[in-house]
Amino acid sequence: MKVVFLGATKGIGRALARLMAARGDALFLLGRDAADLERSARDLEARGARGKVGTAACDLGDASRFESALDAADAALGGFDTVVLTAGVFATQEKLEADSALAASLLNANFTATILFCEAARKRLLARGGGTLCVFSSVAGERGRKPVILYGATKAGLSAYLEGLDHKFRAAGLRTVCVKPGFVKTSMTEGLKPPPFAGEPEPVAQRVLAAIDRGTPVVYAPPMWALVMMVIRNLPRFVMRKVAF
Ligand SMILES: NC(=O)c1ccc[n+]([C@@H]2O[C@H](COP(=O)([O-])OP(=O)(O)OC[C@H]3O[C@@H](n4cnc5c(N)ncnc54)[C@H](OP(=O)(O)O)[C@@H]3O)[C@@H](O)[C@H]2O)c1
Repeated sequence: MKVVFLGATKGIGRALARLMAARGDALFLLGRDAADLERSARDLEARGARGKVGTAACDLGDASRFESALDAADAALGGFDTVVLTAGVFATQEKLEADSALAASLLNANFTATILFCEAARKRLLARGGGTLCVFSSVAGERGRKPVILYGATKAGLSAYLEGLDHKFRAAGLRTVCVKPGFVKTSMTEGLKPPPFAGEPEPVAQRVLAAIDRGTPVVYAPPMWALVMMVIRNLPRFVMRKVAF
């Protein structure tokens, strides 16, 4: 595969990029910290990535640079066939309620900017006959829940967008993979109390890579979260008002 990756410097993205490198995929990294990107690129080359791993600046806070970042990836890879977007931000509901600037930036990064990036990427993939667009949403988007009202709303919108893409463009060759992680121990969740069934980045990345290879439209990871969310989706509203999760 020839993969453009936004968010490979940390967490689940780093674990997934390492698996891709180890099997010889070609990679191009996008991100907002040049030094971090270079370090990650050298790490992936050492792990077996095909050819030189190139990098370009791309910040979800600046949509005006998405096209030039994808141009750089296209030039370096000779036309990419897979786009992975793990980049995203989290803040607690308390912090977001207390800080409207923080809320605005999270809402923009996780919803508007993420979707604009996906639009730029999927147009390029469709223009060359198709490819895979793998994007990280969250189980937090499955139901309105007290601790993740704003973060969850961005992921609910993102999941709906990805489902729509899958319905409209699958026949034209676009394979959309919407990843819905449950709680995974990464820098994003540092300091939060892990719930039962909390996962580690590596097994989650293995499950996501298998979903990318198969073109699975929706994947829960760790898999137990599919069951957990089936229960939560079916809880009546009067119960949801009482519980804290
Ligand atoms: N961990 C979980 O429990 C969990 C659960 C459900 C869903 N998810 C979702 O899964 C995805 C990956 O999560 P993770 O836990 O691996 O997160 P993470 O360890 O915090 O890594 C996030 C990645 O996103 C990048 N990023 C953040 N803001 C960015 C911006 N404005 N522009 C460009 N890149 C940016 C980070 O780069 P920098 O180094 O520049 O910050 C980093 O590479 C996210 O979309 C998250 O919402 C995670």
